Amino acid sequence: MDDYKPIREDYLHEIAAASSLDLLYAVKVRYMGKKGLISEMNKNLAKLPPEEKPIAGAEIGKLRNEFTELYEGKEKKLKERELSEKLLSERLDVTLPGLALPIGSAHILSRTASEIADFFASMGYSVASGPEVELDYYNFEALNMPYGHPARDMQDTFYVSDSEVMRTHTSPVQIRTMLIHKPPIRIIAPGKVYRSDYDVTHSPMFHQVEGLYIDENISMGDLKGTLERFVKALFGSDVPVRFRASYFPFTEPSMEVDMGCSICGTKGCRVCKNTGWLEIGGCGMVAPEVFEAVKIDYDQYSGFAFGMGVERIAMLKYGIDDIRLFFENHVKFLNQF
Ligand code: PHE
Repeated sequence: MDDYKPIREDYLHEIAAASSLDLLYAVKVRYMGKKGLISEMNKNLAKLPPEEKPIAGAEIGKLRNEFTELYEGKEKKLKERELSEKLLSERLDVTLPGLALPIGSAHILSRTASEIADFFASMGYSVASGPEVELDYYNFEALNMPYGHPARDMQDTFYVSDSEVMRTHTSPVQIRTMLIHKPPIRIIAPGKVYRSDYDVTHSPMFHQVEGLYIDENISMGDLKGTLERFVKALFGSDVPVRFRASYFPFTEPSMEVDMGCSICGTKGCRVCKNTGWLEIGGCGMVAPEVFEAVKIDYDQYSGFAFGMGVERIAMLKYGIDDIRLFFENHVKFLNQF
């Protein structure tokens, strides 16, 4: 029996020292495996005198039971510890902030065009559109600018072919609309237009909003009132508006619309070139030649048209001094709006 004592001591010691399941399993194998110490002790029973064999056998059995119990106790403890360590290391902190995706917004020109459209929608206008590659006929001819007309030179045209151009203004939508619809007509036509021009205030592609109102008894007073209300709605009720006599082949009489400079408040500054006024578009009463081209009886009907630049209005509204900023798509510029 005394021979077993140091073995038991060693086992107790090794079980206590086993710091992982792997190490613990190695201890088990060494003592209780097929070629382990317990097996060896059983084999050695053969060398004992017959009367000692059963006593020693029982002692070995007791030892094996004790070893197994100790092993299982320690195994349970180690398993619990490994599990809680795993849970701790794989812990997910759901309160950590996530990755925020940047939120986009409408381009400032789209926003300005919508603001303009919203105002005219509130006045009962609907939205019309036409192609950007336009027939010379609609862009010029039907607007009282026949081939060779000097007014064609007012606009530096991109020609696509002899009879097609990149539209130089949104006015061809007037023609397209009047060819399809009978008066009363009340439309705006926002869209891209093209002219061969490039500097701080000119871009080869820019945006206009055309307006057209045809009905019985439409007068210059209606035109002036409409545009005055428009400027005041967009820029504030104390902004003054003025009309200057001008010339367009498709309106008669024709005017240019100015608003008081939004930068200096009509005192005069660099932006308004010290005049106190800024031009925002052209307008006039629809010319008889245009009514003839679309076969609308101008004894019965009259109307006005206007066209304004969206970039120009956005520049005035937000104090932007270079038109090219709209198209360079620098996020730092765009994010400001
Ligand atoms: N189409 C003209 C231009 O682009 C503006 C305009 C439109 C003038 C309608 C009068 C009537 O310059």
